[in-house]
Amino acid sequence: MIILILYVIIIARGEIMKTNYELMIQQLESMIANESNIIGILANASALLFHTLPNINWAGFYLYDKQNDKLTLGPFQGKIACMHIPMNKGVCGTSAHIKKTLNVDDVHTFDGHIACDNASNSEIVIPIIINNALFGVLDIDAPIKNRFNNEDQLYLEKFVDVLKNHIS
Ligand code: SME
Repeated sequence: MIILILYVIIIARGEIMKTNYELMIQQLESMIANESNIIGILANASALLFHTLPNINWAGFYLYDKQNDKLTLGPFQGKIACMHIPMNKGVCGTSAHIKKTLNVDDVHTFDGHIACDNASNSEIVIPIIINNALFGVLDIDAPIKNRFNNEDQLYLEKFVDVLKNHIS
């Protein structure tokens, strides 16, 4: 009986999570429709993430500075963060370099992790590739370990797809 109840709770939590993500993505779509100010779009996108997702302590963007081949801080919500991240350094620089999502369950085990905020314990970074060129990354930090599961990753990648399609 207890196992059945736990099972129902887990399924229900999964459904709530899906609904929240779907609503957040709809909000993003309507928020950016007819908008062309990229800084404003990214600023509101980071606010949407920060105020919708539970258990996170930073959400924002690092943008690719092609001339200097590094990431620079973009719009975000959370504590003051590192202004510059070299390519292939930290979770952001590595994700940008390999152009793949990095979902890090425990940042303390990630070689070269850049600790902007000591409170961060897990992190997900999704590269933003527009027309085959690196635009930047979406970075979300969490104060707990193992914050982002596969479903989080899937929905956050969808979130980035909506932004990409709008910006390109
Ligand atoms: N932890 C990141 C740096 C950015 S902050 O988390 C906002 C990294 O290792 O790339």
